[in-house]
Amino acid sequence: MGTIQTDITRLLGIQTPIVLAPMAGVSGGALASEVALAGGFGFLAPVYTGVEKFRDEFAIVRSTLGLPSGPLPIGAGFLGWKLEEAGGRHIPLLELALENGVRAIWLSFGEDLGRWIELVRNHDQKTGKSPKTLVFLQVNSVDEALFAVQAWKVDVLVAQGIESGGHGSASAPPVLNLVPEVLSALPPSGAPPVLAAGGLSSGGHLAAFLTLGAAGAVVGTRFLVAEESQYPEVHKRAIIAAKTGSTVRSYVFDQLRDTTGWPAGVDGRGLAIPALAAVERGSDIAQIKEEVAEGTKRGDPSSVIAWAGTGVGPLSRLQPAKDIVRELHEAAVAHLKASSVLVGNV
Ligand SMILES: Cc1cc2nc3c(=O)[nH]c(=O)nc-3n(C[C@H](O)[C@H](O)[C@H](O)COP(=O)(O)O)c2cc1C
Repeated sequence: MGTIQTDITRLLGIQTPIVLAPMAGVSGGALASEVALAGGFGFLAPVYTGVEKFRDEFAIVRSTLGLPSGPLPIGAGFLGWKLEEAGGRHIPLLELALENGVRAIWLSFGEDLGRWIELVRNHDQKTGKSPKTLVFLQVNSVDEALFAVQAWKVDVLVAQGIESGGHGSASAPPVLNLVPEVLSALPPSGAPPVLAAGGLSSGGHLAAFLTLGAAGAVVGTRFLVAEESQYPEVHKRAIIAAKTGSTVRSYVFDQLRDTTGWPAGVDGRGLAIPALAAVERGSDIAQIKEEVAEGTKRGDPSSVIAWAGTGVGPLSRLQPAKDIVRELHEAAVAHLKASSVLVGNV
């Protein structure tokens, strides 16, 4: 496989600048490990139902990677607002990831993210961990990026655009605007690598963002249809059937699933379903909720709430995660080479 070297491949010691997003209910031990084995970097995400399930995912990572003990070449991603819930019942999930010696912690969507960054750094200091745990922070605006760099000195910025699957700021700019603006606002030297996230589902997308100056791409939706993804089968089928333009952003998805509680201004992108339009037209939400719950139980694809980004169009089949990484990488290399040929011929 041709190589692509960027600040993120050097920082993480990986072969290709492809990062699997930590997706709750999707990114388990098998998916994160296979992405790592293919030369990318994988994040696990907990499902916030208790520490045992997350412990099992780490066991899968250790057995898949053949690393029964010691540090792990994967990361774990956490929703700040979940860690911040009263009583701190989800904090043990973060502690478990740190005990497992993950290479990176990813944080997003919280009111007090500085607290979790401090917890990570204190853990490293107490244990003398070397190399230190890298902190990835997902941001949706230039101001958030600058604050993360100046106040928290994060190691990697993930610039998440409005195209992203799952949750994000309802007012995030398109990733094509956000990434260049973040890059030009950062100091010319010493700034952390910036990864682009949102709607990136092909090697051409990766190549485009590398040429814009991003250090790599965070890929979520494309991995929903990996064989190792934990997304339910009916969700996978709905994603495969979806076309470009099938996704919408809305606060209503969370109302229908009873998963409200996100920080103000955060909504989610998923496949449009008739229930969404019905609520927006003013139908009784309690009744629609029941219908969605029943339809989901029956496995009716027009009822399930499937988070997905704008890059769903080209996804046409289930694939092993390794093949997805390889395809994205090879196509990006081909695009980068083709573009340099064009420059040479001008
Ligand atoms: C099903 C799903 C679950 C997600 N869960 C999380 C999560 O738990 N934490 C998080 O920071 N981002 C989460 N995201 C957003 C991803 O981190 C990432 O920004 C997004 O997937 C990138 O856009 P793409 O899906 O268009 O590739 C999720 C995305 C999806 C599609």
